[in-house]
Amino acid sequence: MKKLLHIVATPRGKDSRTLEVSGEFLDVFKEKHGDWVVEELDLSKETLPSLSVKRVDGKYVVLSGKELSGELKESWEEIVAHIEKFLSADAYLISTPMWNFSIPYMLKHYIDIIIQPKYLFRYTTTGVEGLVKGKKMLVVASRGGDYSAEPMHSADFQEPYLRAIFGLVGIKDIDFIVAQPMDMGPALSGPNLLKAQALARQAAARF
Ligand SMILES: Cc1cc2nc3c(=O)[nH]c(=O)nc-3n(C[C@H](O)[C@H](O)[C@H](O)COP(=O)(O)O)c2cc1C
Repeated sequence: MKKLLHIVATPRGKDSRTLEVSGEFLDVFKEKHGDWVVEELDLSKETLPSLSVKRVDGKYVVLSGKELSGELKESWEEIVAHIEKFLSADAYLISTPMWNFSIPYMLKHYIDIIIQPKYLFRYTTTGVEGLVKGKKMLVVASRGGDYSAEPMHSADFQEPYLRAIFGLVGIKDIDFIVAQPMDMGPALSGPNLLKAQALARQAAARF
């Protein structure tokens, strides 16, 4: 069975506007893709391993091409478990609000854990080679303001960052559905939420 990993980066549960959009995607996705399993990773409920000095030291051992051993290897076990869960998926759905022009810290923490050399990418003499090949990603985002045009557009560090970091590891097929503005009154949030939900249903039908 194929697997869609749903990475949730909002702590707002039933009140989340982002999840109101990705929920529409999932309803259609599950209906159309009965041969897929959907696994949820709710980052606000997960205790992610901290990047302690041992774990950071471990990263440099891996970077140098050496094998981890002893205490460093032990401290890396939780990191490797998260990497393996990420790599076990065939496709990804990320549900994330914009926080301070970018992504919530728990999603950044997750990214700092899983984006590791040897596992997700490798350096070559000519640059970086992404090792996550042939996998799709959909990012469903919501924002309080509207970043579709200047002057706010230049402050959107969410979409470019996610495209860059997952692009680095080889995920090039990334779609974005953005519900915005969500905090500038119901006259704007209502129709724009519905618009994003319609896009989410269409994305699920062709995913
Ligand atoms: C800590 C925090 C920081 C935020 N920063 C921004 C921001 O920089 N720009 C913006 O447009 N909205 C910002 N917002 C508003 C959220 O992006 C917006 O309300 C979003 O729809 C919330 O999604 P959710 O309901 O799925 O959690 C912020 C909200 C929080 C809680």
